[in-house]
Amino acid sequence: MAHAEEEMSIPTVDLADLVDADRGTRERAAKTIVEGFGRYGLIYVANHGVDFELRDRLFDRFVALTERSADAKEALNRGDLWFQRGWTPPNTERAVVAGGQPDFKECFFAAPIPTDPACAIEHPQVYAENVWPDDLEGFEEDYVRLGRQLHEAGLSLLSGVALALSLPSRTFERKLDGGAHVFRLLRYLPVNEAQLAEGVVWGEEHTDFNVLTLLPGGRFHDPDGAPCERPDAGSGLYLRTRGGQKVRGVAPPGCIVAQVGQQLEILTGGELLATPHVITAPRTPGYTRVSGAHFLHLHAHEMVFPLERFRTPATLEAYRPPVLAGTYAIKTLVDIGLAPPEAIDGLGYRHYGRLADARASEEA
Ligand SMILES: [Fe+2]
Repeated sequence: MAHAEEEMSIPTVDLADLVDADRGTRERAAKTIVEGFGRYGLIYVANHGVDFELRDRLFDRFVALTERSADAKEALNRGDLWFQRGWTPPNTERAVVAGGQPDFKECFFAAPIPTDPACAIEHPQVYAENVWPDDLEGFEEDYVRLGRQLHEAGLSLLSGVALALSLPSRTFERKLDGGAHVFRLLRYLPVNEAQLAEGVVWGEEHTDFNVLTLLPGGRFHDPDGAPCERPDAGSGLYLRTRGGQKVRGVAPPGCIVAQVGQQLEILTGGELLATPHVITAPRTPGYTRVSGAHFLHLHAHEMVFPLERFRTPATLEAYRPPVLAGTYAIKTLVDIGLAPPEAIDGLGYRHYGRLADARASEEA
């Protein structure tokens, strides 16, 4: 019963403990965060400040958006922004390692926190203005409000990480300030018998490339579209621990999930671990699932490299060379199929053709 034991021991952290008057309580909570992030790459979070009624209302509005005509949704398809804003059509994003099928989901992306305007000229796709659907009452307001609640919970957890690792308390908050934090809504699509036979999954196994991801929970819908319980034991979010075991990522009632992304793993030299996760589809056709994920990112000018105290021969070998977070994002968005491969050309000099042309005209 190794699975059940692992599932049982993923820790829950109460955010109120991180601001408790008693220093010992604060330190214990901080230590629990780092233990959970170190061993499993995730923790459950209580007293997180995320309003579940707001979440459910936003899910309802998002489902209404997904039920709009193909033309209406296509008007929000911002492939020119590498899908970092607006609606993402199905079969767009692709996991790097698992690599097979593109994810069977449609999504919406928006930034709930103001981003650094100076970055918009440097990274026009990742730091783009939000785009919103017309005539979807309350969608933008609820979206931004829920995204901000998740963001605040994430910053609290990162202050706990800093405390447990004996770093200045605002170490991570400073590095994240003004970053292109993005809150995403997702709808995993109904699968048919043929896809089930092929073993289709909703979202292939991958690690997130940002610092920290906050998951407010999700909701299944039956083939008639009514919210329902999990249709079978195998469907939903699964995570892989440091030991390689897959465990189901289901938060205790009232809690949310926080998981480590690649950038936090790299900053801590692997002390904390980016969590591989997969979203499996039910074994019965016709079910869908809506969920959300808020991604906290480093500011584009921050370096993705182990912090000084985590630099050892082994971590340097594993994580060099240092890369600007803005550059790191471009590379990853190409890897997962959201940005075009040519975006990589922008990471170095791309005007060699000028010399080639000059030499050709000289010879002519
Ligand atoms: Fe993910």
